[in-house]
Amino acid sequence: MKVLFIGDIVGSIGRETLQSYLPRLKRKYSPDAVIVNGENAAAGRGITKAIYQDILYMGVDVVTMGNHTWDQKEIFDFIDEADFLIRPANFSVDAPGRGMVTIEKNGVKLSVINLHGRVFLPPHDDPFWLADELIAEAKEKSPLVFVDFHAEATSEKIAMGWHLDGRASAVVGTHTHVQTADARILPGGTAYISDVGMTGPYDEILGMNKESVLYRFKTNLPVRFEVPKQGRGVLSGFYTELDDASGKAVSFERIYINEDYPFAP
Ligand SMILES: [Fe+2]
Ligand SMILES: [Fe+2]
Repeated sequence: MKVLFIGDIVGSIGRETLQSYLPRLKRKYSPDAVIVNGENAAAGRGITKAIYQDILYMGVDVVTMGNHTWDQKEIFDFIDEADFLIRPANFSVDAPGRGMVTIEKNGVKLSVINLHGRVFLPPHDDPFWLADELIAEAKEKSPLVFVDFHAEATSEKIAMGWHLDGRASAVVGTHTHVQTADARILPGGTAYISDVGMTGPYDEILGMNKESVLYRFKTNLPVRFEVPKQGRGVLSGFYTELDDASGKAVSFERIYINEDYPFAP
């Protein structure tokens, strides 16, 4: 199975960049499944039902989330009915929604798991222990398991990669919004990258308006970060081909598209 993952969609520029490049990415990679992280899709903060549906309509199969999951209040009204929207599995057991989904494409099943880190982030449940539980559950359906580990510290993400090596088909990091150059296939057959990077405003700071972020750094005064609505976009992604029988990754490619690194089909 060929899987295309696209990192954190930030605001309208992120959604427009996804929409404009996804058809071309599909022509180039012919992915069987497309997964995107949508935690910043609604002006940088969470996701709305309309945006979730728009993203699926573009040809996306699963949307993952992160620390911004609850930013849009309406998510509480639709997350339990959103079959292809998952939020970090190690949130409270009382939180609505779910952290794993299994999809089927051309007769092949793929489970997608979303987990949240705990270093420099709120103290959610142990993602390592829960990953063991969820992978065991997923393996009853299919050897193909894709993990989005939404975490801040590269050490924690690399640790999760090694923890799941040979058990998950792929472990990709999200949240820091800057793509790392360490993509590889670990010895046990798990495709890995510490952070896929984000899809959104290219000329700003992690997708947020650079003037407001600079003001915060220079003054330490409170300021609300906004996501610009106009400007150039960047798309960050990760492609991997998985062996259907073993669940192991056989190839991977980092995807990074903007005016400095134009798309080459
Ligand atoms: Fe994000
Ligand atoms: Fe995040």
